[in-house]
Amino acid sequence: MRLILAPMEGLADVYLRRLITAQGGFDRVISEFVRVVDQLLPESVFYSICPELLQGSRTDSGTPVRVQLLGNHLEALAANAQRAIALGSDGIDLNFGCPSKTVNRSQGGAVLLREPDTLYQVVKAVREALPEHITVSAKMRLGYDDTELMLDNARAIADAGATELTVHARTRAQGYAPPAHWHELARIRSAISIPLIANGDVWSPADYQACSQIAGTQDVMLGRGAIRHPDLAHRIRQNNETTLDWQRLCGLIVQFWREVRADMPEKYCAGRLKQWLNHLRVAHSGAERLWLEVRAERSTQALDRLIHNLEPDSDPVRNSSGQP
Ligand SMILES: Cc1cc2nc3c(=O)[nH]c(=O)nc-3n(C[C@H](O)[C@H](O)[C@H](O)COP(=O)(O)O)c2cc1C
Repeated sequence: MRLILAPMEGLADVYLRRLITAQGGFDRVISEFVRVVDQLLPESVFYSICPELLQGSRTDSGTPVRVQLLGNHLEALAANAQRAIALGSDGIDLNFGCPSKTVNRSQGGAVLLREPDTLYQVVKAVREALPEHITVSAKMRLGYDDTELMLDNARAIADAGATELTVHARTRAQGYAPPAHWHELARIRSAISIPLIANGDVWSPADYQACSQIAGTQDVMLGRGAIRHPDLAHRIRQNNETTLDWQRLCGLIVQFWREVRADMPEKYCAGRLKQWLNHLRVAHSGAERLWLEVRAERSTQALDRLIHNLEPDSDPVRNSSGQP
């Protein structure tokens, strides 16, 4: 069984990657995508999207992080893949699933699922640019508008030399609308000889069991489920359906806020907190209450006090008055 934390641009950033992998259970993380147009990007771009490169491409708890590239320019992808590997990335992942209109308009992400031959060329160019022992993985959806080219796409990626393939079990047209079509993954699994990693709508250990059984693979990538339940991978390994209690989650929220406040420009901090709470509140009633309070706050200092009050030894009466 391998459990992988999904790339989630603007959501699973370095703070949440650190926090989630610290709960245990993950074998690997894929970074947010690095968008390649037609040039070799400066090292600073890689470090800003994947700061883990500065520490051996591992999160603080030691989980390997793989840089994901998005684009279609063969030479530029090859050169940037070499750069990411030189900086220490744990292999290269290629994005063939991004549904963004802007990205698709410039022939990147899911739009390439209309052209199996382009997928083949992209994977081959990156594969040939790297030493054989370096992993080149790819991530795709079931298709663009429909699943007609699904098997052709998967075969093209495998034939071009990819080491493994992750499939988000929806087409681009299906967006994120439930359900994820896990049964289609079983068809892909039979069509290729490289390992398949199943992805889409795994929110609990029971979902993991169902997805794994239907798709025919024990390797699963967890996305929003791990944002809502940071301990999901650990619980899948224990087959434990009991999610984090509110006290423990408060500790993680306090930690997250402290790190975001220490590193990020002040104007972005509130947005980061609100975004995570907006996911957490679906699964935790305490987070729903906190989200309603946080949403109403305008100043970062007021948020500092609110979050400080979550600490187990804080005195809410004293702290809500703002006195130290
Ligand atoms: C906010 C957000 C950003 C995402 N960014 C990326 C990305 O950078 N690269 C990628 O391959 N997939 C990206 N995805 C797709 C996820 O990796 C994953 O395939 C999708 O969320 C389905 O899995 P889940 O149901 O477990 O969340 C993103 C998804 C979300 C919700």
